[in-house]
Amino acid sequence: MVLQLPPEVGALPIPMFDLSGALAEAEDAIRSNLAEMHRAGQYILGPQTSAFETEFAREVGGVAAVGVGSGTVALELCLRDAGIGRGGSGSAPDEVILPSMTSLFTAQAVLATGARIRVADVSPQNLLLTAESIDRAFTPATRAVVAVHLYGQPCNLPDLSSLCKQRGVALIQDACQAHGAFVKGMPLTHFSPYCAYSFYPTKNLGCLGDGGAIVTSDPEIAARLRQLRDGGRLGDQLCRAPGVNSRLDEIQACYLRAFLPHLKAWNQRRRNLAAAYAEGLRHAGALRLLEWDSDSVHHLCVARATHREALRAYLADRNIQTGVHYPVAIQDQPGLIPHASWAETPVHGAQAAQEIVSLPLGPHLSLEQVQTVARRIAEFA
Ligand SMILES: Cc1ncc(COP(=O)(O)O)c(C=O)c1O
Repeated sequence: MVLQLPPEVGALPIPMFDLSGALAEAEDAIRSNLAEMHRAGQYILGPQTSAFETEFAREVGGVAAVGVGSGTVALELCLRDAGIGRGGSGSAPDEVILPSMTSLFTAQAVLATGARIRVADVSPQNLLLTAESIDRAFTPATRAVVAVHLYGQPCNLPDLSSLCKQRGVALIQDACQAHGAFVKGMPLTHFSPYCAYSFYPTKNLGCLGDGGAIVTSDPEIAARLRQLRDGGRLGDQLCRAPGVNSRLDEIQACYLRAFLPHLKAWNQRRRNLAAAYAEGLRHAGALRLLEWDSDSVHHLCVARATHREALRAYLADRNIQTGVHYPVAIQDQPGLIPHASWAETPVHGAQAAQEIVSLPLGPHLSLEQVQTVARRIAEFA
């Protein structure tokens, strides 16, 4: 008897994340950077980190970059440098507005400064903050807004930066999912001098562990941040101010320097694959892609599905991985609730948490793999 198997059973999995293609493309540069690091024998704040800082700032259109231990610390240091903290004695604690739909680490960065979280709802179309929802969330204690460029799509920065200027508060950009993004050709730092990036391995530019950086348009901010990340020191043993111990490792800089020259091409491949999803899912009633524009660098391809768990199980049975970014909105995270408030219930963020699903997308996925995913989704419908 001949056993009949459905076509995808036994096929290679279509993964959410796989670094092997990037490692293969950059192999020679990785080897040469690691060899140089071994020769130099400097493993913290050495030549690889400082070269990467120069190269990364140039790539994303900033004046300077400061490498730190994670995207969370990058955000925390931006907030601290902008003067955000517990607030003065006798006054209400500082509040920082952030979107209802983001990584919980955006919120942890705010709490690390001693400030409170003020949650604003997001647009149902792209899950980003809007000037209107930020405006409604303001209180007299608001000191900053964290604009999260979720899934690689930059927020409406012209609107957000003029609102923050008008209100006299800092605009911090969470670009942890937006490496290489520009807004109509302008670098992100054109709109505020604080852009925080994460190099968590799954990112458009990732390393092989934790890492992060702040990119700024202001050399004085860069100088203060270098002191903050290194215990208040400036390459000596003198502590000039309270700081943290969070520096980008030299070994991670070796990988990042090798990957960086590929970032543009990898983002373009992500763009092409997202367009293939849009084409392949045009008639798939089970699922609706979120909106994006041509400035997106497509960190994730996210859709709303009415029967999300059934769809994910159907795809998993066919060797197709999916993810959820994120299953719990900020205002519903048990550990954040005591430290958060909101003016209006963030209903769009809460509903998105129930419906969103992230589809496989990466520069080393093939067009055929994406078309297979789209076909299986259409089949599920
Ligand atoms: C939007 C967003 N903000 C903040 C972070 C925190 O970055 P890290 O994991 O490097 O601390 C991440 C990464 O997971 C993120 O995606």
